[in-house]
Amino acid sequence: MKIFYKNKLTILTIIVIVIAPIMMIMNSCVVSQKIAAKSGAQLWAENCQRCHNTPSPSTFSPEKWETVGLHMQSRALLTETEKDKIVDFLKQ
Ligand code: HEC
Repeated sequence: MKIFYKNKLTILTIIVIVIAPIMMIMNSCVVSQKIAAKSGAQLWAENCQRCHNTPSPSTFSPEKWETVGLHMQSRALLTETEKDKIVDFLKQ
C-alpha cells in the first residue's frame, strides 16, 4: 500500500516537471506566432497613432527611420521584432 502511494507521487511529480514546461513553451509560441502574423504596416497602424498622427513612410530617410524606431520602441513599449517590422515597413 505504501509503495503504491509512493509511485503515485512519483508519477505526479514527473507529470508536473514534464508537462508544465511543454505547456509554457507551447504558450510562448502562440504569442510569438501572433506577432509574426502581423505585418509591419499593421503594427505601425496599431501602435504609432496612439500618441500622435502616424508619420508617413516618406517623412524620413531609411537611416532616420532606424533612429526613430529605437526612440519610439521605448515610448510605445514594442518588442525588438515589432520595432524591426515597423522600421522595415517605413523604410520601403
Ligand atoms: C507612448 C506615446 C508614443 C507612441 C506609442 C509613439 N510615439 Fe512617436 N513620439 C512620441 C512623442 C512624445 C514624440 C515627441 C518627440 C520626442 O519624444 O522625441 C514623438 C515623436 C515622433 C516622431 C518625430 C516627429 C517629428 O516630426 O520630429 C516620429 C517620426 C515618431 N514619433 C514616430 C513614431 C512611430 C513610427 C511610432 C510607432 C512605432 C511611434 N512614434 C509611437 C510619442 C509616441
